[in-house]
Order: sequence, then structure tokens, then C-alpha cells
Amino acid sequence: MKFIHLTDTHIVADGLLYGQDPGARLAAAVASINAEHGDADFVVVTGDMTHWGDAAAYARFAAEIGNLDMPVHLLMGNHDDREAFAQAVPDAPRDTGGFVQSGFDTDAGRFLLLDTKAPEGHAGAFCALRRDWLRVELERTQAPVTLFMHHPPFPVGIAAMDHIMLHEAEAFHEVIAPHTARIRHLFFGHVHRAIWGTWRGISYSCMRGLNHQVALDLNRVRDRTVGNFEPPAYGVVLLGDAQIIIHLHDFADRSERFDL
Ligand SMILES: [Fe+2]
Repeated sequence: MKFIHLTDTHIVADGLLYGQDPGARLAAAVASINAEHGDADFVVVTGDMTHWGDAAAYARFAAEIGNLDMPVHLLMGNHDDREAFAQAVPDAPRDTGGFVQSGFDTDAGRFLLLDTKAPEGHAGAFCALRRDWLRVELERTQAPVTLFMHHPPFPVGIAAMDHIMLHEAEAFHEVIAPHTARIRHLFFGHVHRAIWGTWRGISYSCMRGLNHQVALDLNRVRDRTVGNFEPPAYGVVLLGDAQIIIHLHDFADRSERFDL
């Protein structure tokens, strides 16, 4: 099975964001996915669809992402707004508490999409209502599970981003801990970097954003978030019974291809 991990598109209604055009970046990513990975089963966008969470930005996001040749699954990020999102994407599934959480079955097991947006601020939250939903979802199947969320439930060594990680990480872990052996992978966004590792026995990965990135700065105290313009990328994910392969695709790279 093959799918695409796209994250942090940060669409604005018009104009530029940090001197870049996030709408053009998303259009280029969609064109690349259709042309190069049209055989993917679906695309998952792990949050920060828009930068300011306004209706006009969601309309633009929906128009661009609607050009994908395959289904797309959308998650909330700290820059998103549930109500404005609902106006642009009224069919997006929600849980009984109104959070943008859902699950679906794939050839590689059950995929669970989590909503880690906090009521305010940029850190992540996973309140008791959302934890109850996840507990039920995990208990209703014994299939392998793959998790998707915007905020990582652990620090990644970049102080400013660690300050705004998922704040209810211990409570979150208590819910998933009994199921660790069948959690195949955890995909997240938020950090705008390509990061891979394991956490408490669960493998994880994060992808670069499309418009701007967070600089690799592991030495700074939490005085400011340092951005940069490393190239945009998306993840090409191949899942088999025995393996998960995640390729970072520098889709905007135009360097020459040649016979090695
Ligand atoms: Fe972001």
C-alpha cells in the first residue's frame, strides 16, 4: 500500500507568507503527487492547512487540494480553525465531541487521525474527551494501527518547538501504551522538519512543511523560533506486512538527473 504524507501547507488567502507563496507551493505539490505518485491510495495532511485559520484561506486550500487524483484525509493543526475549516470542508468526519478525529480501514490496518488543537495557543492538547474517543477506537479492533497527529507527544530537541509540543503527553501515552505492540508508526507535522526516531517503542516520522521550515538549532534556549527556507517536501510511504518505508521527496528539486 502506498500513501503520501503532506503537512503544514500554511495556506493564506492571498499574497505571500514569509516571502513565499504557499498556494503555489501546494499547487506544485499536488501536481507532483498526481504525476509521480498517482498510484497512491490517498494523501494525509497532518495539520496547519492554513496559516491564519480564515475562511478565505480554507477555500483556497480546498480548491488546491481538491485537484488531487486520490482521496485526502485532513487533520487540525495549531494554525487551523475548526469552524472555518468546516465551512470549506463540510464533509470532513468528526467525533461525537466535534473534534476532527476519525478512523478508517486500509490494506495495512486501521488508520487513526487525531485532533491535537488546543482551545488557544500553539501547543497541542488531547483532552479527556479526545482520549476517551481514542481509547474506544483502539479497543474496538485488534488490527495494526497507524497514528496521525499534528503535535508530537515528545520533545525533538528544538527548544522553541518542544515548548509547544503536545502538553498532555503522559495522559496520551497512557491511552496508547497497552497497544504499543500493534502501533505500526506515528506520523506528525508541526515541527517543519524531516525527523525520524522511536518513542517508547513506537516508530515515528515528521515531514518538512511546504512554505517555510524550522531551522535545525539544537543549542538555543527558548528565546525565539528560527525559520529557514530549506526546500519543501512530502513523504512517500510504502507499507507492507513486514516493513514501512518512508521516502522524503524533494519534489521542487530541479537538479539534473543522470546515469550513475
Ligand atoms: Fe506549521
